[in-house]
Amino acid sequence: MEEKDFLTLSELNPEDLNYILELSAEFKDGRKDGFGHGLLKSKQFALIFEKPSTRTRVSFQVAIDELGGNAVTLSSTEMQLGRGETIEDTARVLSRYVHCIMARVISHSSVVKLATYSSIPVINGLSDLYHPVQILADLLTLKEKKRKLEGLNVAWIGDGNNVCNSWLIGASLSGINFRVATPKGYEPLDEAVSTAKKIAAETGASIYLTEEPEEAVKDADCVMTDTFVSMGFDKEREERMKVFMPKYQVNKQLFSLAKSDAIFMHCLPAHRGEEVTDEIIDGPNSAVFDQAENRLHTTKALLCFIMRGIERLRV
Ligand code: CP
Ligand code: NVA
Repeated sequence: MEEKDFLTLSELNPEDLNYILELSAEFKDGRKDGFGHGLLKSKQFALIFEKPSTRTRVSFQVAIDELGGNAVTLSSTEMQLGRGETIEDTARVLSRYVHCIMARVISHSSVVKLATYSSIPVINGLSDLYHPVQILADLLTLKEKKRKLEGLNVAWIGDGNNVCNSWLIGASLSGINFRVATPKGYEPLDEAVSTAKKIAAETGASIYLTEEPEEAVKDADCVMTDTFVSMGFDKEREERMKVFMPKYQVNKQLFSLAKSDAIFMHCLPAHRGEEVTDEIIDGPNSAVFDQAENRLHTTKALLCFIMRGIERLRV
């Protein structure tokens, strides 16, 4: 990784990504024996949240604690940031106290600004445009279940949102055939699609966008969705429900078009009865809780990767 920050996933090349996934598996296997304890000794982390979180908050705090570091978790409303202190000044000040910042922000431009004015690495813990830390856990889960990533068919159904944008990049880095089915007007970000297509040309991955869920799901090894109403879009709830329901719901009928051993994934939190039915998310092919667990293991690997990178840059 050339840059100090991790904001979209496109900072990684295929080798870096593979290394992080292999290291994640080692952390997973060795957790009961305390594998990795001390790797982040004396390292301080600031975790900033402008939006709610369960998995990101807990997995980062536990990962840092288990590796011997210290996390200061901050809600932006309790910081001077919430009273108008600039992001630039916040970045400069935190850079004097901690070794790395993870921030969940309302607007992607905030995490970019934080990274620009910090002398330390900044990790995007979800913005309106990207959610790169989630995709590491998703790829580890898929690799565990299918024993490979290259050549798999993955279908994304529903909103072309932050998770979908980072998945485009993750799929292209991994040689996955990624098919996205969204309604018109809810397609993923142009920037993410063009970055993914550029990477795909090198890795043999393919990127395909359609409005038809059946087309995306046909012969898929994995079917994935996310909420139709991401955080910050609550005012659009009624309108979005009309657009997405029932055509983009992952239910038994749609899922039956995938391969018979296809898995179902969802970053969670799920809105049962909206983007997915209970019988799918609780069914035998669902991997959602393994996926949630893998947030912990991949976060450990990412932190070690990033902190070692920054040490190298300073030498
Ligand atoms: N998947 C995910 O990022 O969950 P949280 O919003 O609970 O952190
Ligand atoms: N797309 C969702 C992901 C939540 C983890 C959101 O942004 O709310």
